[in-house]
Amino acid sequence: MSLSEKQTQLIKASIPVLAAHGELLIRHFYQIMFRDYPQIRALFNQTHQSDGAQQRALAGAILAYARHIEQPEALNGTVDLIVNKHVSLNILPEHYPIVGTSLLRAMAEVLGDAMTPELAESWEAAYWQLANLLIEREEAIYRAREDQPGGWRGLRAFRVVGKQPESEVITSFYLEPVDGGPVMDFIPGQYIGLEITIDGASMRRNYSLSDAPNGQYYRISVKREQWGRVSGYLHDRVALGDILNLYAPGGSFTLREGDHPIVLVTGGVGITPAIAMLNALAGSGRPVRFVHAAIKQRHHAFRGHVEQLRQSHDHIERCYLYDQAEHGDDANVYGQVNAEVLSQNLLPDSEVYFLGPVPFMREVLRLLRGFGVPQQRYHFEFFGPAQALE
Ligand SMILES: Cc1cc2nc3c(=O)[nH]c(=O)nc-3n(C[C@H](O)[C@H](O)[C@H](O)COP(=O)(O)OP(=O)(O)OC[C@H]3O[C@@H](n4cnc5c(N)ncnc54)[C@H](O)[C@@H]3O)c2cc1C
Ligand code: HEM
Repeated sequence: MSLSEKQTQLIKASIPVLAAHGELLIRHFYQIMFRDYPQIRALFNQTHQSDGAQQRALAGAILAYARHIEQPEALNGTVDLIVNKHVSLNILPEHYPIVGTSLLRAMAEVLGDAMTPELAESWEAAYWQLANLLIEREEAIYRAREDQPGGWRGLRAFRVVGKQPESEVITSFYLEPVDGGPVMDFIPGQYIGLEITIDGASMRRNYSLSDAPNGQYYRISVKREQWGRVSGYLHDRVALGDILNLYAPGGSFTLREGDHPIVLVTGGVGITPAIAMLNALAGSGRPVRFVHAAIKQRHHAFRGHVEQLRQSHDHIERCYLYDQAEHGDDANVYGQVNAEVLSQNLLPDSEVYFLGPVPFMREVLRLLRGFGVPQQRYHFEFFGPAQALE
């Protein structure tokens, strides 16, 4: 069902109200949805709800959609992000009516009289226009992954065949499918979805794949978050031989092919997809600059591995930054990422990938912009809902 001209105008006229009430509306929406459909709660990371990041992401997407209702192609980047996130958490067509109904109920409650029947009908049509686009794109990805050699749809059981501490706070898990089959290739930078039941509660989380594709196993590397439910459980209670259930890899933060030099700039556990990229690049001859910021050496994962690669591949250079170094720590820079570090490591015409805590990413983006790096030459990912970096 496409929108009439009148409906389009009504949607556009409601933008200022949405902008004013956007976050409140979405908060209300989640309350209604979790109250009326409690089974849906397990799909959502409750931490992302409690700090408001998820509300902002969804409110931002709906607002952007309303703004571009006549040129939906302007939203391709956002749609890509949403579709990849949904697919990694196995969001299915049957979930869409639940979100649609809850959203419209929340709009009616928040807007009161301003929500005329006509506006409600327009928003319902608009919601389904967007929902159908997402459902179609998501199904195309599910099908493509299922059809790949070693691919699958839904959950697949993996056995933990290795558990390796990489630093005081980050531990790797090597995972092989229980069915003994191959595992589908992925593009370095992509992540899997993990579904896990802890003390009777089902939870879903994403983890980047931290080794290059090899057809046999996946590796994830998990930072123990203070009070983190899933990361704490993985560190403390998951042992060799245990089973973890995964959704197939995906994501749009991917290493581009070509011969541009590569600059990988990461902070903390943001290092994980960069290690997959570095491993895939080793031996390619493409110049690589690996810039990594850790709090201190004890927290710095994969240091020995990166050193080995650098010594055996002269196209790889590295720079380590510690901002709370301890006695005896050995870094190239003692402090945080800054213009000097970045300018020394930016190569002409390079492709830059960055990931880390949000303030770190804000600073990297600001510096890249300052150096005039064009938008198509830098890529970033969030280890949570997307946030504004400017
Ligand atoms: C694309 C993607 C890739 C990722 N890749 C990796 C990776 O490679 N490695 C990795 O370690 N992580 C990765 N993550 C993050 C990962 O998905 C989890 O978010 C992370 O492991 C924390 O989950 P948790 O269940 O342990 O913590 P949660 O229980 O979700 O808690 C997270 C943090 O919030 C705090 N918190 C919890 N509840 C509240 C509350 N009510 N109020 C305030 N604070 C609260 C906790 O103390 C904790 O510090 C990735 C995320 C995404 C989206
Ligand atoms: C038109 C409908 C929808 C829109 C516009 C939408 C939009 C979004 C956006 C913008 C994000 C954040 C992406 C990111 O930054 O990581 C997101 C994440 C998510 N969406 Fe949707 N979504 C829709 C429908 C649904 C449905 C039907 C479900 C299933 C119940 C769903 C479940 C999720 C989940 C679980 C996440 C991840 C949340 C988290 O971080 O915990 N969405 N969606």
